[in-house]
Amino acid sequence: MVPPLGGQGVNIKKIRADFPILSTEMNGKPLIFLDRGASSQKPNQVIEAMDEYYKTTHANVHRGVYNLSQRATDQFEAARKTMQRFINAKHDHEVIFTRGTTEGINLVANSFGRKYLKEGDEVLISAMEHHSNIVPWQMACEVAGANLKVIPINDLGELNMTAFAEMVNEKTKIIAVMHVSNSLGTINPIKEITAFARKRGIPVLVDGAQATPHIKIDVQELDADFYVFSAHKMYGPTGMGLLYGKEELLNAMPPYHGGGEMIETCSFEKTTYNVLPFKFEAGTPDIAGAIGMAAAVDYIEEIGHEAIAQHEYDLLTYGTEKLKAIDSLQIIGKANNKASVISFLIDGAHPYDVGAILDKLGIAVRTGHHCTQPLMDLLNIPGTVRASFGVYNTREDVDVLVAGVARAARMLT
Ligand code: ALA
Repeated sequence: MVPPLGGQGVNIKKIRADFPILSTEMNGKPLIFLDRGASSQKPNQVIEAMDEYYKTTHANVHRGVYNLSQRATDQFEAARKTMQRFINAKHDHEVIFTRGTTEGINLVANSFGRKYLKEGDEVLISAMEHHSNIVPWQMACEVAGANLKVIPINDLGELNMTAFAEMVNEKTKIIAVMHVSNSLGTINPIKEITAFARKRGIPVLVDGAQATPHIKIDVQELDADFYVFSAHKMYGPTGMGLLYGKEELLNAMPPYHGGGEMIETCSFEKTTYNVLPFKFEAGTPDIAGAIGMAAAVDYIEEIGHEAIAQHEYDLLTYGTEKLKAIDSLQIIGKANNKASVISFLIDGAHPYDVGAILDKLGIAVRTGHHCTQPLMDLLNIPGTVRASFGVYNTREDVDVLVAGVARAARMLT
């Protein structure tokens, strides 16, 4: 465990030194990176693990009898074991490597959809979903003639659980919800949703893209049927992610992509499919990506989920209080249970203009609809300015942000 420093629960000085990019400049100012929600920065431990793999161990996996290929395979499968432990999956073959959250959801929507969705069936999502947990379901519904239903949210940006309970019926074939909202920061009551769904035999897919960097995930305790996330939002590489699925469901579902690795036997007449997890891993996988993702897990676990959550909660509460003191500023997303995401608007100023001024000051935030256009339409806003904190951010970063936002507000309103 890293010893605590400065009352922030983590050794922030050491952590910041792990991320080379944090000591660079943007527009002639020290970089203040507040866009973990879009993608986190990477520590040396992840960069070096991938570098080392390519320098010393690379060969294709599961394909060679030669020593180097076997060593690459061992590292790749060791990464799967690390990921199994990270989410507490019952079996390592329930861990499917993907290119990211989006691919994981597309895999389930396509494969589960082909098998189980029929005309008139319903897929239940929520009003705060990311496009990647809307569009794959729209596509699956279109093929099947099924209907997409949307759980509404309240004024705080929380799921309306009464409406949820009323919307679930015998036509509901799957429920797909995000664990943590990328636009609002809301942490959704996943256990309540899975418990309700379980009694009715309805599987639940959880989009954990924004959750895994903050919250300790236990898929068995959550009782999620599918849990998807990306490595790049949790200090790992881009183009890498994970789909967890319960063995029974994954076994019952048809393959998604066809190609090498996912076959047992192949002839021009008929192909039979490989066992889990390979059935869903067609083609040469991102071997270095898996190793990098496992290194990111080691990094998170060394600091400790609780320490990370405590540190980020401090940034959330400190930042929210400071930003609220700016008269023309409105916070978007006021859920009682919230992760370290602060979305806001300055009255009379477009989010892009605020973002552009912050950029000149070296502050990187995301502006726009955050891939949640239907949510923005519902809230009747063009988008927001979003600051999202990672383990490497500090109260000093928040101070620079607040001064920058105050300056933008003076300039634009
Ligand atoms: N989904 C990512 C975000 O919220 C890209 O910024």
